[in-house]
Order: sequence, then structure tokens, then C-alpha cells
Amino acid sequence: MFLWLASLLFASSALTRDNFIRTAEQLIELGLSELGYEYVNMDEWWSAAEIGRDNKTLRLRHNEETFPGGLKSVADDVHELGLKIGIYADSGTYTCGKRSGSLYYEEIDAMTWDEWCMDYVKVDNCNIPETWAQDLWNGCHPDYDRPWGQNGTCADMTRQPPEWWNWKWSSQKVRHDRMRDALAKLNRTIVLSICNWGQAHVEQWGNETAVSWRMTDDIDANWVRIIEILAYNTFYLNYVDFWGHNDMDMLQIGNGNLSLAEARTHFSLWAALKSPLLISTPLEDLSERELAILKNKDLIDFNQDPIFGKPATPYKWGTNPDWTYNKTFLAEFYAGQSSQGFLVLMFNPFNNTEFKVANWGEVPGLPGGFSYWVKNMWSGEDIGCMERVSMQVGPHDTAVLLVGGKCSAP
Ligand SMILES: *[C@@H]1O[C@H](CO)[C@@H](O)[C@H](O)[C@H]1NC(C)=O
Ligand SMILES: *[C@@H]1O[C@H](CO)[C@@H](O)[C@H](O)[C@H]1NC(C)=O
Ligand SMILES: *[C@@H]1O[C@H](CO)[C@@H](O)[C@H](O)[C@H]1NC(C)=O
Ligand SMILES: *[C@@H]1O[C@H](CO)[C@@H](O)[C@H](O)[C@H]1NC(C)=O
Ligand SMILES: *[C@@H]1O[C@H](CO)[C@@H](O)[C@H](O)[C@H]1NC(C)=O
Ligand SMILES: *[C@@H]1O[C@H](CO)[C@@H](O)[C@H](O)[C@H]1NC(C)=O
Ligand SMILES: *[C@@H]1O[C@H](CO)[C@@H](O)[C@H](O)[C@H]1NC(C)=O
Repeated sequence: MFLWLASLLFASSALTRDNFIRTAEQLIELGLSELGYEYVNMDEWWSAAEIGRDNKTLRLRHNEETFPGGLKSVADDVHELGLKIGIYADSGTYTCGKRSGSLYYEEIDAMTWDEWCMDYVKVDNCNIPETWAQDLWNGCHPDYDRPWGQNGTCADMTRQPPEWWNWKWSSQKVRHDRMRDALAKLNRTIVLSICNWGQAHVEQWGNETAVSWRMTDDIDANWVRIIEILAYNTFYLNYVDFWGHNDMDMLQIGNGNLSLAEARTHFSLWAALKSPLLISTPLEDLSERELAILKNKDLIDFNQDPIFGKPATPYKWGTNPDWTYNKTFLAEFYAGQSSQGFLVLMFNPFNNTEFKVANWGEVPGLPGGFSYWVKNMWSGEDIGCMERVSMQVGPHDTAVLLVGGKCSAP
């Protein structure tokens, strides 16, 4: 089975060899690695500033101050711990932080990471030369404040391509495929995760290029932004299955001022929609309760199910009519199938506690009119044999039920 969980040390001056190895050790000590968080990834800032490439070999150079001895030795230490290592690159001339980019150097860079024994690469989208930005249409994107039509489609016709256009022809795909092809020539498996912020309708071609593709501009440790990203993603779930994932961006649990209920919603939906699960907070600062959220084994098992690759999808919006795109009042009822049964989620977008009912007959694929064994995935409680489940769901919280086998009538 392929795992796409990971723990990520986000871009910052805190990215040093010692902190990186310490994070790997913490993944083990905190019991996260045994649940599947097996990649330790670095973002921006690992490479040398200014003259980022060696002027003879043209290879990228590491930052000797923060990574004395280079990255191969870091990879060796991470592998020694039984974990995998991820690096960061950019598909333009420079990274977002003005280090050397990989455009036109894809093969050299892929070979360098191969020699360094890397297992994963995130490829960013900053500083793209004019010649590579010639598509007339960048696609519809909520971050660009365009008006929205039904089903989350873009209603601004001035930016819409003609009917014959296929997003697979976009220069974005051609550019990101260069790195895919360079990695494919290696004997080593280096997983490609692309980050073009959802542009050029990446979900329509991402699966031919990478194992995950970022769907939006950057996330933020902020409730409004988290549910906005969720609202957008609910319209693009048909593109997700084994080996290909809409990346809803890194988990913000532990950052900002998210309440525990908000953190539960964030983790429940990111796991259920089969986004990569990338922790991005200093692990030592997580509270017991935040850590417990990241360690919800039932949700991780759903995210990583070996038999069912499809994500949970909305089966009912709730407040608004089905398929209404609304950043605040998005879909509230979701379900998906797994080896264990059906996962049913009930999300409460309101600021006060709501009474919510899960009716099995409404869940696609689950025959109604029967009773099923039900477990509450957040409390761990076996609710027993139920014809339906009615629950109080707190403000911004999400109830997650595992609906198991049919039980005979009581
Ligand atoms: C090439 O790199 C070396 C070592 O970093 C440096 O001493 C030299 O000045 C560079 N040459 C040019 C032409 O930039
Ligand atoms: C919205 O999407 C749903 C599900 O794919 C579909 O049944 C419905 O026809 C769509 N509505 C429009 C206006 O495209
Ligand atoms: C991959 O392995 C094969 C067989 O061991 C070898 O001939 C080839 O040179 C290797 N390719 C690279 C890029 O290392
Ligand atoms: C994505 O590609 C893989 C093969 O790499 C395939 O198994 C999977 O079904 C594809 N996903 C979708 C949604 O078509
Ligand atoms: C959390 O942070 C946001 C944005 O910084 C702020 O608007 C909000 O009031 C804060 N909420 C709490 C409960 O502190
Ligand atoms: C979102 O839905 C709510 C509840 O139906 C509605 O009051 C609000 O106007 C909607 N927002 C937009 C931007 O349509
Ligand atoms: C919840 O409260 C916040 C802050 O008072 C407000 O901005 C927001 O619109 C409220 N959300 C809902 C769904 O009522």
C-alpha cells in the first residue's frame, strides 16, 4: 500500500539539520510514525542562496550553514530511523524565496536528489518565465475573487477558455511533466507532489503528472480559510482515487487559534476527502488533545484504505440546496465506503450547537430500512445497533460515525 501521510517542517529559519532530525525522532517518540506518518519533508530554504548552483556541475548546492555536510547524510539518518525524506523544489527560475529553481535543470536535479537518497519532492510554482505563462486562461480559482456559478464553476466568461480547450494542454502541465519525466528516468522512486495552487484546473490532469496536486492557494491557520478550501474541494472529488489526490494543503492543527472542535473538523474532512495528511507545526508544542486528533486511527485508516480508493463525498448540503457553492454554508453531510463499512460525517458550520440526524437511506450505497452497528469515531464509543443516529454537534465540530455491518432487528 502506498502511504501519502507525511509530517512537514514548514519553511522557516527553523529548518536546520538538528531540527529536522529532531522532528523525525519525535514522529517516532509520539507514536505518529507507526500510524503512517512516515515522510519527513522540508520546504523552502534548504538550498544555498544567491549562486544556488555549482558553476561547473550545475547541481543545486545545499545551505552549508544550516545543513553542514549536505543532505545525503540527513537522508541517511532519516532512513536509519526507518522513515522517508522529502525535499522542496520549484518549477520556475527561482523558488518563492529566490533560491535556484529547477526549470531546464530537471534531469540534473532529479539525479542529484537520487544521489542524496530523497524519497519525495514537492515542486512549487513561483517565478515562471513569461514564455511559460502564455495560456490565456489560468482556470477558475476562488483565491482570485472571481464570481462563482453553480457547482463551483467559474462564471467570469472573459477568463473562460473556448469549448474546444482541454486543460491537459496547459503549459502548466507541460512544465510539471518535465520533472515527472526526469524522475521516471531514475532507478529510485521519488514521489512527486506538485503545488500549482489549483491553476489550469490541475485536478483534470494532475493524476497523469503526480501523486498529489495542490488545489488552492496557501492555507492559513484560520477557520474561515479552512472551510473555504473545504467548500471548493467538495466539487472536485471525482478526480481522487488510488495514487492521485487533491492536496488540500498542510494541516494547521497546532497553529493559530483553532478550537479543538475546528481542529476535529479540519482533520476529519482532510482525512475523509483523502487529502495528503501533512502535519505542519512544531511537534513538541502540540497539546495532548491536539495530538490525539492527529492520531485518530479510524480516520487515518479510512484515508489509507487498501481496498477503497475513493474519498467520502457530500450526500446532502444541509443549510443550502445541494450543490450550492457557498464558502460559509457548504456541504454538511458526507459519506464514503471503506473496508470497515461506511464513514458518515456531520459537520456543523454554525456558531451554536446543532441537532443533526444521519439517515442511512440517504447515504449512497447503504441500503436504508435496516439497522447497523455504529461507532462514534471521535469518542470511540460503540453506539450499538441503530436505525439512524441523532446527535448534538457542537459549533464548528464534525461528528464522524463508522457504520458497520447490518444487525438483526432487536
Ligand atoms: C565558480 O565557483 C567557485 C566556487 O564556488 C568560485 O570560486 C568561482 O568564482 C566561480 N566562478 C564563476 C565564474 O562564477
Ligand atoms: C452539479 O453537479 C451535480 C453532480 O455532479 C450534477 O448532478 C448537477 O447536474 C450539476 N449542476 C450543474 C448546473 O451543472
Ligand atoms: C538503473 O539501473 C540499471 C540496472 O542496474 C543501470 O544499468 C542504469 O544505469 C541505472 N540508471 C541510473 C539512472 O542510475
Ligand atoms: C489515477 O491514476 C491511477 C494510475 O496511476 C489510477 O489507478 C487511478 O484510477 C487514477 N485516478 C482516477 C481518479 O482516475
Ligand atoms: C482567532 O484569530 C482570528 C484571526 O486572527 C480572529 O479573527 C479571531 O477572533 C480569533 N479567535 C479567537 C477565539 O481568539
Ligand atoms: C451562503 O448561504 C447563506 C445561507 O443560505 C446565505 O444567507 C448567504 O447569502 C450565502 N452567501 C452567498 C455569498 O451566497
Ligand atoms: C460566527 O461568528 C463569527 C464571529 O462573530 C461571524 O463572523 C460568523 O459569520 C458567524 N458564523 C455563522 C455561521 O453564523
